Amino acid sequence: MKNLPLLFLGIFFTLAFSWSGLILSSEIQYGKLVPTTSTLNAEGEPEEGGELFPAASAGIALQGKEVYQNQGCMYCHSQQVRPKGYGADFERGWGPRQTVPRDYILEDRVLLGTMRTGPDLANVGGRALSADWHHQHLYNPQITSPGSVMPPFRYLYRMQEIDPEGPSPDAVSIPADFPYAPPPGYEVVPTDEAKALVAYLLSLRIDYELPEAKFSQ
Ligand code: HEC
Repeated sequence: MKNLPLLFLGIFFTLAFSWSGLILSSEIQYGKLVPTTSTLNAEGEPEEGGELFPAASAGIALQGKEVYQNQGCMYCHSQQVRPKGYGADFERGWGPRQTVPRDYILEDRVLLGTMRTGPDLANVGGRALSADWHHQHLYNPQITSPGSVMPPFRYLYRMQEIDPEGPSPDAVSIPADFPYAPPPGYEVVPTDEAKALVAYLLSLRIDYELPEAKFSQ
């Protein structure tokens, strides 16, 4: 083994090369990004007293993100709006601007996704879809979106007898002529997981500008 030093040198450079390409170059490009105001002052610094974006998401939405991960929503949905000229994301109304690396800096796990069997969800909370719409859709996508190929997530809901005191305030309105509609005297209510998931979906919104990404760019 007289070539051992050469072998080790080769291994060292292979590892060093991939480390610099994957870790070091990302750190140099994105490592120093922090939340900032949507416009910068004359010195190129965040405006004094301005609101900082992106903002951290609240507790129940974070729990909902776990459900989103566990249910594999990411296998069919992306969370990234491409810039104008790269596909038809704007024409489809998926967001008011492209997403940029700074949008994701507060997330410990970024769910960009690669497949788009369904629409991009980066700004789904900014669309006019209510919590009840999301519950109907998750319970049976055919109710809101006839012909949808999205699978139902019915096991995130419970069918229960309506209390003599009155129906639950959480009850999801399921039209009677759809399969799995509750029979008379019964109602469909979301589990805690379904509630958290919908809170997460409603929290996904691109409603702020960043210096490097203004609306309708
Ligand atoms: C097998 C692929 C697939 C999976 C898995 C999937 N979806 Fe979908 N999703 C779709 C398709 C296709 C549509 C478009 C038709 C429709 O509205 O149902 C859609 C639409 C949606 C919409 C409506 C978006 C809009 O702008 O109209 C939401 C919200 C949504 N999905 C959330 C989810 C969530 C949350 C999960 C995980 C619990 C999930 N999807 C899992 C395929 C999928």
